[in-house]
Amino acid sequence: MTILWDGDPAAAETYHFAVSDRIEVFGAARTVTRALATNPDELLVIVGPDVGLQAASSFAEQIRIERPEVSVILLRRRLEVAVLAQALRAGFREVIASDDLTSLSSACQRSLEISRHLAGIAGGGAPVVDGKVVMVFNAKGGCGKTTIATNLGAYMASTGARVLLVDLDLAFGDVAISLQLRPAASVGDLVAMSGHLDAQGLASVVTRHDSGLHTVCAPSQPRDADGIPGTTVAEMLRVARRFYDFVVVDTPPAFSEHVLVALDMCDLLVLIATLDIPAVKNLRLTLDTLDQLGHPRDGRIVILNRSDAKVGLNTEDVVAAIKLPIAAMVPSSPHVPASVNRGVPIILDEPKHPVSQALRAFAEKHILNASALSNPESAGSGDPMGGDGGSPEPSTHRRLFRRGAKL
Ligand SMILES: Nc1ncnc2c1ncn2[C@@H]1O[C@H](COP(=O)(O)OP(=O)(O)O)[C@@H](O)[C@H]1O
Ligand SMILES: [Mg+2]
Repeated sequence: MTILWDGDPAAAETYHFAVSDRIEVFGAARTVTRALATNPDELLVIVGPDVGLQAASSFAEQIRIERPEVSVILLRRRLEVAVLAQALRAGFREVIASDDLTSLSSACQRSLEISRHLAGIAGGGAPVVDGKVVMVFNAKGGCGKTTIATNLGAYMASTGARVLLVDLDLAFGDVAISLQLRPAASVGDLVAMSGHLDAQGLASVVTRHDSGLHTVCAPSQPRDADGIPGTTVAEMLRVARRFYDFVVVDTPPAFSEHVLVALDMCDLLVLIATLDIPAVKNLRLTLDTLDQLGHPRDGRIVILNRSDAKVGLNTEDVVAAIKLPIAAMVPSSPHVPASVNRGVPIILDEPKHPVSQALRAFAEKHILNASALSNPESAGSGDPMGGDGGSPEPSTHRRLFRRGAKL
């Protein structure tokens, strides 16, 4: 179906031959917007020649922000330079004379090609309107945030989910080095696009890992972190969640401005605990701070990293101190840093390793399968690692958890 905004319900017939698709006519911007909302696969809107330029431009501007993959073509009875300039600014894909059906036909084809490309930015398929933000955090360095974020991201991507890993440790980010990526661009490059970031802009800073995981890396120079405003990070996450099933956020060991922005948008906060007293104390303080910030308690979950360390503290001590259950226990292993040195997350490199099993079971239970929104038709091909790994069910990126769902 192609959407036509036109006051004349019979207008569909006029353009029938130019648009090789069924045309549905809507009489107002409001009804067009509603039609787009109920048809997320719709990629083309044609605005008829009698729709006022001001109203048409406001509509195009709104669509450019809310559904950047959708092409809007403007029809005018006469093509005037002033109209073309305004249309270009508003974000129309093309402006065509309403009696030039040949040009309209090729404009529709060109626009659809661009739209399909944009819609497929994250690996094909229609944009996901409500991707989930999974943030990995602890206010202490060295506890395993990057290790866990990269492994969870790579595993989920390998199941067919569309996953973007964002490195918000903007000054000292390790995502690129942990995955041995050579990013040509970083979060810093988004600053110039602030206020008008779209799918294409986001794609221009994405670096791909062999696992299928997409990443937005931190700037290579720590000083560049200072110039990145929180609003840029918020805009990046907002756009990203429209094109990815999951946006995994790795964080610095502090409540930075960027962390606060991401916290506001996060659906699941994965907190990393370890078995040492300073780390437990820090986690307790982190939880208190989250409470003070009004962050919802039911969106938090704890992974105990290096869970087998013999250091005098045990799991019960940690649970008693933080008053939260432990959702996964990840043992300590020299294979973890060794996998980082190879640039392949252990979860993919050694799927049967206990570290991989623990993280895979966590991803399956608490992220991939944590929702009633399961869609059996889009089920993935089972455990692509071929391991038993405690994955009770096949993966499917459609089984998203609900925002604020009880964990
Ligand atoms: N379960 C583990 N077993 C062994 N080493 C680990 C484990 N988790 C993390 N590490 C290592 O600890 C170091 C710090 O981990 P990292 O993920 O960079 O922490 P953070 O991002 O919180 O600063 C890295 O060298 C990493 O390889
Ligand atoms: Mg880190």
